[in-house]
Amino acid sequence: MAKIETIGILTSGGDAPGMNAAIRAVTRAAICAGMKVKGIYRGYRGLLTDEIVDFRTQNVSNIIQMGGTILKTARCKEFQTTEGRQLAYDTIQRHKIDALVVIGGDGSLTGARIFANEYNFPIIGLPGTIDNDLYGTDSTIGYDTALNTIMECVDKIRDTATSHERLFFIEVMGRDAGFLALNGAIASGAEAAIIPEISTQVDQLAELIENGFRKSKNSSIVLVAESPVTGGAMGMAERVKNEYPGYDVRVSILGHLQRGGSPTAYDRILASRLGAAAIDALLDDQRNVMIGIKNDEIVYVPITRAIKNDKPIDQELLNTLRRLSI
Ligand code: F6P
Repeated sequence: MAKIETIGILTSGGDAPGMNAAIRAVTRAAICAGMKVKGIYRGYRGLLTDEIVDFRTQNVSNIIQMGGTILKTARCKEFQTTEGRQLAYDTIQRHKIDALVVIGGDGSLTGARIFANEYNFPIIGLPGTIDNDLYGTDSTIGYDTALNTIMECVDKIRDTATSHERLFFIEVMGRDAGFLALNGAIASGAEAAIIPEISTQVDQLAELIENGFRKSKNSSIVLVAESPVTGGAMGMAERVKNEYPGYDVRVSILGHLQRGGSPTAYDRILASRLGAAAIDALLDDQRNVMIGIKNDEIVYVPITRAIKNDKPIDQELLNTLRRLSI
């Protein structure tokens, strides 16, 4: 396969803590391997508008501890069109970029797959999203930090919930996935998690209330994954008011604060390992794979599999939450 001399790196979709650590790792591992690095600003949009800067090792100094992404990010509608992708390809040719490293979630890697197939262009994906919803990796960059943020917030809300003897529905992000809600609930000792993965099989709210979940407690915290399927925290609170009056209910929607903050040690290490492995993968002639982590080992997952397969919720975690919240 043609030798890769210059790589482009971009972050796309929702930002996630640890993206900067990944940018640093990719840049420095590439330079160590004798490659040139170009930083592409504002995700795929930067390819359309030619916002590209040569990256040297100093460009990524002192960023490992920073949340967000120094490359900025965007959700780029134009890249979803063939004309947009043609423009992107022209820019790539002009800059003599031989391969791309794309850090992002489901939507970003979907864009990467289409582009890679259309132009037979080498792309390596890194899973960067707080949602942890990419198949083939135990964790995504940013998930652990978001989980810790959720845990800290719930700890605080618990103080007021206990003082007022209230039932709180706390909505967390995750798009269509319940990983943040489920593990956030376990980490914060919440009474339950309402997640989209099982919403169509069971009425989680009815199950909760009918099982007498507050019998021995004067306050309760339920984490609800944002999703049209769960109805979100507001939907749950409405239902309780109508179907189970008598509960003193409050809602808290954590929102975008879950995406910010300095990455945890786990996310920094994960991002560093995955970023360095992206360059190993290119040197190893791997193409169009996402770098993941499975049982603490680096794995290559075809991008098509990472985005097309639904990552399953671990039943053991659900059972643990249920058993520990009595
Ligand atoms: O994918 C990350 C995420 O934070 C989701 O959890 C959430 O649904 C979405 O992005 C919010 O996107 P935006 O910042 O564009 O509103």
